[in-house]
Amino acid sequence: MESKAVTTSAADLRSDCAVLGIHEPRDLTAAARALDNECGKRISAVLARGDFAARLGDTQLLSEVPGSPSGRVLLVGLGPRKSFNRRALRRAMLVAAQALARTGTRHAASWLAHELPADVDPYYAGRFAAETAAAALYRIPDLKSAKRLPAPALQKLTLGVADGKARNAAQRGLDHGAAIASGQKVTRDLGNLPPNVCTPRYIARTARELGRRHRSIRVRVLEEAAIERLGMGSFLAVARGSHEPPRFVILEYRGGRRGAAPVALVGKGITFDSGGISLKDPPGMDEMKFDMSGAASVLGTFAAAAALKLPINLVGVVPACENMPSGHATKPGDIVKSMSGQTVEVLNTDAEGRLILADALTYVRRFKPAAVVDIATLTGACVVALGAHYCGLMSPDDELAAQLLTASERSDDRAWRMPIADDYGEQLRSNFADFANTGGREGGAITAAWFLSRFTQGLRWAHLDIAGVAWLGGPQKGSTGRPVALLVDFLLERARAR
Ligand code: BES
Ligand code: MN
Ligand code: ZN
Repeated sequence: MESKAVTTSAADLRSDCAVLGIHEPRDLTAAARALDNECGKRISAVLARGDFAARLGDTQLLSEVPGSPSGRVLLVGLGPRKSFNRRALRRAMLVAAQALARTGTRHAASWLAHELPADVDPYYAGRFAAETAAAALYRIPDLKSAKRLPAPALQKLTLGVADGKARNAAQRGLDHGAAIASGQKVTRDLGNLPPNVCTPRYIARTARELGRRHRSIRVRVLEEAAIERLGMGSFLAVARGSHEPPRFVILEYRGGRRGAAPVALVGKGITFDSGGISLKDPPGMDEMKFDMSGAASVLGTFAAAAALKLPINLVGVVPACENMPSGHATKPGDIVKSMSGQTVEVLNTDAEGRLILADALTYVRRFKPAAVVDIATLTGACVVALGAHYCGLMSPDDELAAQLLTASERSDDRAWRMPIADDYGEQLRSNFADFANTGGREGGAITAAWFLSRFTQGLRWAHLDIAGVAWLGGPQKGSTGRPVALLVDFLLERARAR
C-alpha cells in the first residue's frame, strides 16, 4: 500500500473516503469541522440526531456526502477528549482501517493524526496508521475450498497532519510502519499455517527465502547430525519423539559496523506441542501449532530490520522441532545433558520449550552478543498471570528490561516485568541431575525463566513469554504478529542511540 503524509485540509483533499475523528459528546475535531462546513453541516446533523455517539471504537460510514471533496465520509469515535491517548488513537486507527476494508474505498484520506494526544508524536501517529492499515488488510493464508472473496480495495492512504514538520515525521513513521507490517505478515503467516505445513523444515525454508530476498541477511541451517555434533542433548531430547526432523536455523543480519557486537534474538520453534509423553488434554490442542510463534517473531523481525536497513548487527537463532509422543520419545524421569554440560531431569515432557531454548541460548554465546532476547510461548502460567494483553518480561538486567518496557509502551505492544529472583530456583531442585525442568504450578512463568537463566550467565539477557499474546482465540482466532512491533522498536532505538 502506498501512503503519504500531507498538510492539505480535509475541505480540499479529494479521495474516496475522508476519515474524521469525533470526540464524545458531539465534539468535532478541527478536520471534521472543516469538512462539515463544506457539506452543509451534514456531520453535525448526524450527531444532532443521535446517530453517532463517538464512543472510542465506534465508526459510521456516510456513503454520500454532497459538497464533500471525498465521496464518502467515515466518522470515527475517539471517546472523551480527556481520556484520548496513545492507545486510544491506535485503537481508533485500527477500527477505522477495518471499516474501510469493508467498503469499496481505494484511496482513503485520514485526519486521525491531525490533532494528537499529548503522548503521541507525528512519527508514531504515522507508524500506527501504516501498521493498523496493514493489519486490517491482512488475510489468513487459509485452505478453504470456496472461492476467495475479492481482496479489500484499499490501495492508498493519505494522512493529513498539522504542519510541514509533522508531515516529515509522519512520513517517516508511515514508511517505518509499512516495514514493521511486512515483518508482522511473515510472523502471522507462519503462525497461522497448519502444523502439517509449517514444520521445522518449512521454518528453515522460510528463513532461507528471507536470505535470498535480502542481501543483508545470511542464513545457515543445521540438520540433525550437526546438531548432535554440537552436543545439543537438551534440544534433541525434545525432537526425538517425532518423525519430522529438527532444524537449527541461524540468521545473521549485517547492517552495522563490521565486528560490532550483535543483538541476538532466540525464538522457540515448536511447530506442534502435543506435550510428548506428558500428553496434553485434547481440548484446544490444535492451538499448539502456534508454539513456534517465538521463532516466527524472530523471522518477522529480521524481515523488518532488513526492510528498514537498520544500522546494527543482528543474530537470530531458532531451534525448531515437534514435541510428540512415540516409542523414541523422551520419558518423564529421563536425564539429558545440555550443550552447556549441565544435566536436566525431565519431570514433564510438556515443559519442552525451555529444553530447546537452553541449547540455543548456549549456542548464541559464540557471537559475543551485546544483548540476548529470547521470545517464547513458554508457559500457560504466564497466560493465567497476564492474559492476552501483556506479555511477560523477565530479566536480571534492569537496563535491558527498562529498554524493552519502554519499547513496549511506545509501540503499544505491551510487556509487564515479572521478578526472576534466585529463590524460585529451589522449586527446580533435583536429587538426580543439576536441576529439573519443572517446578510445580506456583510461579510457573518465573520458574521457567529461572531455568533459562541457568544458561545465560554472564550474558545481558531478557526473556519474553508471549504465550498469551502471540495469538487470539474465539472468532478472531489466529496469529497476532506480536511482539514484532516491540522488538523492532527496541532495535530502532538501539540504532538511534549509536
Ligand atoms: N507451549 C506450552 C505453553 C503454553 C500453554 C502456551 C498454553 C500457550 C498456551 C508449553 O510448552 C507448556 O506446555 N508448558 C507447560 C509447562 C508445565 C508442564 C511446567 C504449561 O504451561 O503447562
Ligand atoms: Mn509444552
Ligand atoms: Zn510448548
